[in-house]
Amino acid sequence: MGLKKLVIELTDLCNLECEYCFQKSGISHLEFSLIQRLLKDAQQWGASKITFTGGEIALYPQLEQALGLAEVLGYRYAIVTNGWHFERILPFLNDTLPALNHIFFSLDSSSEKGHDIVRGRGSYARIANAVELCRSHNLPFSFLVVVNKRNLAEMEVLATLAAHMGARGIVFGHMLPTSKLLEEQLSLSYGDRRIAEAEAQRLAAVLDISVSFSASASNNAPICCEPLAGKTVSVDCRGRISLCCQLADYRGAATENDIVGDLNVTGFGQAYANFLALAVKQRTRRSHALSRGDVSATYPCDFCLTTLDKTAWRDQSAPISTMVEA
Ligand SMILES: C[S@@+](CC[C@H](N)C(=O)[O-])C[C@H]1O[C@@H](n2cnc3c(N)ncnc32)[C@H](O)[C@@H]1O
Ligand code: SF4
Ligand code: SF4
Repeated sequence: MGLKKLVIELTDLCNLECEYCFQKSGISHLEFSLIQRLLKDAQQWGASKITFTGGEIALYPQLEQALGLAEVLGYRYAIVTNGWHFERILPFLNDTLPALNHIFFSLDSSSEKGHDIVRGRGSYARIANAVELCRSHNLPFSFLVVVNKRNLAEMEVLATLAAHMGARGIVFGHMLPTSKLLEEQLSLSYGDRRIAEAEAQRLAAVLDISVSFSASASNNAPICCEPLAGKTVSVDCRGRISLCCQLADYRGAATENDIVGDLNVTGFGQAYANFLALAVKQRTRRSHALSRGDVSATYPCDFCLTTLDKTAWRDQSAPISTMVEA
C-alpha cells in the first residue's frame, strides 16, 4: 500500500475525435499553479511517478514547464499521446531525459487505413514519424491498443509490428463503451474478450517485447488495479481527484461518483483520504459481487462503470446482456 503514482490529465482538449473515446472533450487546461502544489504535496505521501495524459498533452500550453517541474522535483514521468504533435514536443522530452520513463502511443491498427478510420486521416503517418524520432533519439516507447471488433483479428500483427518498430512493449485493453450503439458495434462479447486475453498471453510468451493486458482484463483478484490498491491517484484537468483516469469526465456518464475531492478547495491529504475510502468501498462491492457469481464483476473496469453510474444508457434491467454470447 501507499501512494506511488499520479495520473494527471493536463487538458481535455484534443486534436482528434476517435470514435470510441471515453473522454468528454473540452477546452479546460489544468492550472499550472495547482500542478506545482499537487506535485509537492503528493510527494509527501510517497508519489514518485507521474503519467501525463489528456485529452492530448501536446496541446497543453505549459507542457514544457510541467515536465521540467516533474524533473526538478525528482519524479519519473510517462506520457500518453496520439503522437500527432510529437515532433513539436520532442525537445521538451529531450530536455528532461533523466525524468522520462516512458512514452505510450495509442495505436488502433497495423494498417494505415485501419488506424486512420478511428483516428482520422494522417494519424498513422504521424505515429510512424514519432516512432522514427523515438528510435533516433533512443527514447523508450510502447503502444496502447484498445481491442474491439475491428482489430481483434490483428493482435498478432500489431504485436509483431510493435516489436519490429522497436517498441519496448504493447498493452492491450478492452474498450469501455460510451453508448449503446458503440457497444453493439465495437465491444467484444465475453467469449471474444477471453480469446483476446489468451492471445495476449500467447504473444507474451513468443515475442521478445512485453505484451500485456490492462486492468480491464477479466480477473477475480480482490485488488485488481493500481487505483483500487490505493497506489495511483488521478487528477482531472479541473483539479479534481478521481478514483481513476478512465472514469473522470466519462462521456455520457449520469453522475460524477468517482470524484472524491477538488484540489482547488481541498488539501491533497484530505482528498487522498477520501480516495482511499472510495477505493476500499469499490473493492468491497466487487468482492461481494464476485462471491454472488456476478459475471460482470469479473471485468473490473466494467464493474466500476456500472456501479459508479457511468453507463446509465444501458438497459438496467438487462445489464450488458449484449456481451454474453448467444
Ligand atoms: C483518453 S486517451 C488520452 C491520451 C491521448 N489522447 C491518446 O489517445 O493516446 C488515453 C487512452 O485511453 C484510450 N481510450 C480512449 N477511449 C477508450 C475507451 N472507450 N475504452 C478504452 N480505452 C480508451 C486511448 O486509446 C488512449 O490510449
Ligand atoms: S482517444 Fe485520445 S486522441 Fe482520441 S479523441 Fe480521445 S483523447 Fe483524443
Ligand atoms: S476503472 Fe476501476 S477497475 Fe478499472 S482501472 Fe479504474 S479503478 Fe481500476
